[in-house]
Amino acid sequence: MEKNIFWSNSQERKEQIKTVSHYTKDFSSWVFYDSSAESYGNDFDKIFSIYWVEYIIDHFQKNNKMGRAVAIDFGGQGDKVFSEFGEGVFKRTFGVCLGGVQFDKIIKDNCGRLMKVYPDGRKHYFVQGNILNKTTYNELNNKVSRGSVDLITCRLVGGCLEIPTDPCLLMSVAQKWYEMLSFDGLMFLDLYGLIDVSLLTEWVKFINSNDFGIHIAQWKYLTQWKYLICLHKQKTALKKLPGMGRKRTADFYKKSGVRPNCNI
Ligand SMILES: C[S@@+](CC[C@H](N)C(=O)[O-])C[C@H]1O[C@@H](n2cnc3c(N)ncnc32)[C@H](O)[C@@H]1O
Repeated sequence: MEKNIFWSNSQERKEQIKTVSHYTKDFSSWVFYDSSAESYGNDFDKIFSIYWVEYIIDHFQKNNKMGRAVAIDFGGQGDKVFSEFGEGVFKRTFGVCLGGVQFDKIIKDNCGRLMKVYPDGRKHYFVQGNILNKTTYNELNNKVSRGSVDLITCRLVGGCLEIPTDPCLLMSVAQKWYEMLSFDGLMFLDLYGLIDVSLLTEWVKFINSNDFGIHIAQWKYLTQWKYLICLHKQKTALKKLPGMGRKRTADFYKKSGVRPNCNI
């Protein structure tokens, strides 16, 4: 297989990540903050036309994950969204965002980590960090091993306005999340405003038409302002999330006339 074209350590990309350090850390500046599962559902329900929580619980039941599932919400506190799945679903949950912990009954564990323990024994950890920074993943790796996360969600809403839209950078983040995901794990992403929709559509087509053991269900709004996906990393899935390859991407850009915003 061709080298994943999206990964690069270029200086330019490092500079883009550095600019994120001045991003909004004050939670009061967000219209949506620590939203409910129902609110996330206003987006994710569209993918399968059923309540996304029901879809996930059904998936966990079929895969014997109830009470053992691990979930991470990137770009959010993840407190309310996972609580509304009910008791006996998750063993451990995480919320990763830039700052502003805003939940009650928060404690510090014996390693000084901010957390909350629920009546059913679920532990929810709050990780303050930038999703584009390696240090954030180092911190997460201390708590979850690679390939052990059953559900990843990301709904940045206004937060995506502060994320560089470079598809190479975003793909490298997606790659990290994919590697954290367990076999049979699910990723629900709201990619609103983050990436060129025609490139994304081409990539989804590429993934679904190959035997990678990965299936992506998607929903896109015609005005192209909404692009929601659910990625299922099946039992037979590849260990790495495939990029389209340099040639295919170059051909895509040539045919579509879209100007790439990264070096390919
Ligand atoms: C509008 S709020 C949405 C929060 C939550 N997902 C929800 O739907 O209620 C945007 C969130 O994105 C987070 N965010 C923005 N850029 C981020 C980044 N680079 N790394 C981590 N979190 C980020 C902010 O800290 C904030 O929590």
